[in-house]
Amino acid sequence: MPLLTSPPPQQCHWQNFNTTAELEQAATQTILQAALQAISLRGTFHIVLAGGTTPRRVYESLCKSDADWAAWHVYFGDERCLPADHVERNSGMAAKAWLNHVAIPLNHIHIIPAEKGAQVAASNYAQTLASIELFDLVLLGLGEDGHTASLFPGHDLGNTANAPAVIAVENAPKYPPQRVSLSAHRLSTARKVIFLVSGTTKQQAVMDWRNGVAIPAAAISPTNGVDVYLEAALLA
Ligand code: 6PG
Repeated sequence: MPLLTSPPPQQCHWQNFNTTAELEQAATQTILQAALQAISLRGTFHIVLAGGTTPRRVYESLCKSDADWAAWHVYFGDERCLPADHVERNSGMAAKAWLNHVAIPLNHIHIIPAEKGAQVAASNYAQTLASIELFDLVLLGLGEDGHTASLFPGHDLGNTANAPAVIAVENAPKYPPQRVSLSAHRLSTARKVIFLVSGTTKQQAVMDWRNGVAIPAAAISPTNGVDVYLEAALLA
């Protein structure tokens, strides 16, 4: 039984932007740069997408970009246990904004089968991820309560070295109650992690985070630290 080693402390690189548009433009450029570098070094680019609404315009910008889409592999940081075509699915938002409009091969888009229920979907997705050692880039959002992906306060964050890669989430405080989430440990197994944070409702979570409160977002601790793309107004 491996020792339950505590995760390394999180290093945060805060990057403040005057407007949401500037934040989104910077995020789009960072993603495209990360893809160019990964593809030139390893021939592929493995990216984990954030859900919610914040990333939508970034996905729409990517849609207009010229990239070597055939080398991209897309995963999801979490998914809501709703029917596959439900309008509230994270995979549906990304498909509508971006994935349906670029030539990423369908077998490179790895959707969490959350319509099967949290336990079955978590088990299936863990098998999907088994062959991927390090993600090249993980995108994450931040909830008003400090959650990220579907890792919520008071719930298992999966932030130890022996944590499962994928967690079945029951009674989540954000609808729907049943979800599937990559664990904090798996989300941290990445070359680069970027949080996209906008909206005044996130101000308290950002303050807590910066004051060292152990919100779930603070459990994401990749070797190279995390970049937090933040609207400057949230620091006021
Ligand atoms: C989800 C998301 C969740 C989201 C945050 C922020 O399924 O709800 O994965 O973690 O990223 O709640 O959501 P907004 O971007 O809509 O503010």
